[in-house]
Amino acid sequence: MASTTQTETQLQNLAAVLESQGAKLKTVVRNIPKPSPDEIVVRNYAIAANPVDWKIQDYGFAIKTYPTVLGSDGCGIVTDVGPSVTKFKKGDRVTGFGGVIGTDNPDHGSWQTYTVLRDIATTKIPDFMSFEQGSVFPMAMATSAMALFTNLRIPLPKSSIAPQNSGFLIWGASSSVGTAAVQLARNLGFKVFATASQTHHQYLKSLGAFEVFDYHDSDVVSKIVASAKMAGTPISLGFDCVSEGTTSQQSAEILLDSGGKGGKLCLVLPWSGQGEKPDGVEISQTEAYRAFVNQAEMGKWFFNEYLEKALQEKSILSAPEIQIVEGGIDGAQKALDLSKKGVSGKKLVVKVE
Ligand SMILES: NC(=O)c1ccc[n+]([C@@H]2O[C@H](COP(=O)([O-])OP(=O)(O)OC[C@H]3O[C@@H](n4cnc5c(N)ncnc54)[C@H](OP(=O)(O)O)[C@@H]3O)[C@@H](O)[C@H]2O)c1
Repeated sequence: MASTTQTETQLQNLAAVLESQGAKLKTVVRNIPKPSPDEIVVRNYAIAANPVDWKIQDYGFAIKTYPTVLGSDGCGIVTDVGPSVTKFKKGDRVTGFGGVIGTDNPDHGSWQTYTVLRDIATTKIPDFMSFEQGSVFPMAMATSAMALFTNLRIPLPKSSIAPQNSGFLIWGASSSVGTAAVQLARNLGFKVFATASQTHHQYLKSLGAFEVFDYHDSDVVSKIVASAKMAGTPISLGFDCVSEGTTSQQSAEILLDSGGKGGKLCLVLPWSGQGEKPDGVEISQTEAYRAFVNQAEMGKWFFNEYLEKALQEKSILSAPEIQIVEGGIDGAQKALDLSKKGVSGKKLVVKVE
């Protein structure tokens, strides 16, 4: 295993490499990558784990060529820019949604010191935001933005927030994707009805949720429906950020029972409910990577304009809370193992000195 002293990591591209499906990540030195015309290279100072990292490691999907580098969330300083890039320059503090999904190119993976990012999936972070704070949300934001603006077909916001006549259900709101979705939906003017464990309720209200319900409560569906009726905001849009066990079925029931017409429910994973999808609710699945593939115009607007401004204005906060995993790049495997065990309202972050 390569050593990870500070001096060496400043000069080398230490990478947590996956040599084959199911193998443990191994720290090796890779060449510092070069950007294509519309790409930048970022020297990461913080990298965050996502569940898809351990899922790819275990199941091997999305990867055709090994060795590879996983990872979608990295935050640091721009060190190189392609000739077509106008938005970013060397020295900018940025965060970005990277990853090998769709490209199979390990230079795009975040679990290394130097990562190539597409300019359209990159956001400048404010001076007041640490690299750790900046690393936690790019993939979650892309996942939620695709869900809201593509799957649920919410029009892109104009200059002011228009009050919506619909409630918005966010199931699993304390997850990374959920905390992003709560803030986006709140900013769009929706009344957010969320589910999470009790311990996260106050935090989610601080992010903009109108009411938060404990999903462990066997009456959670009827309680959310009653609350939406009381508030006079039928819930016709929903985002199930868990999509496991009965969560999608329960989410669909809420949309059907709360009085919303033409309900649309977006999932993060394929439908897992028992039996057929229910009639009366349009159900689809978000795909984060569309932000730089077939929804690139929207992705560019989201990362280069909306998110940068929202972070600066603090209408989007870094969320969820950070849990540091020690060890630098060598800590990547531990971060993936902890992610697989499951987190509660936390993002696992590795610092790269
Ligand atoms: N389709 C895509 O493009 C895409 C993109 C990104 C992620 N994903 C998938 O989306 C899922 C979420 O990712 P993530 O990074 O946001 O996960 P995460 O932050 O690791 O999720 C952890 C959270 O899940 C919550 N949770 C677990 N079971 C729950 C249940 N039955 N009901 C409500 N909440 C529950 C926990 O809530 P409490 O602590 O409050 O109990 C915990 O805070 C993963 O399966 C991931 O692979 C898909």
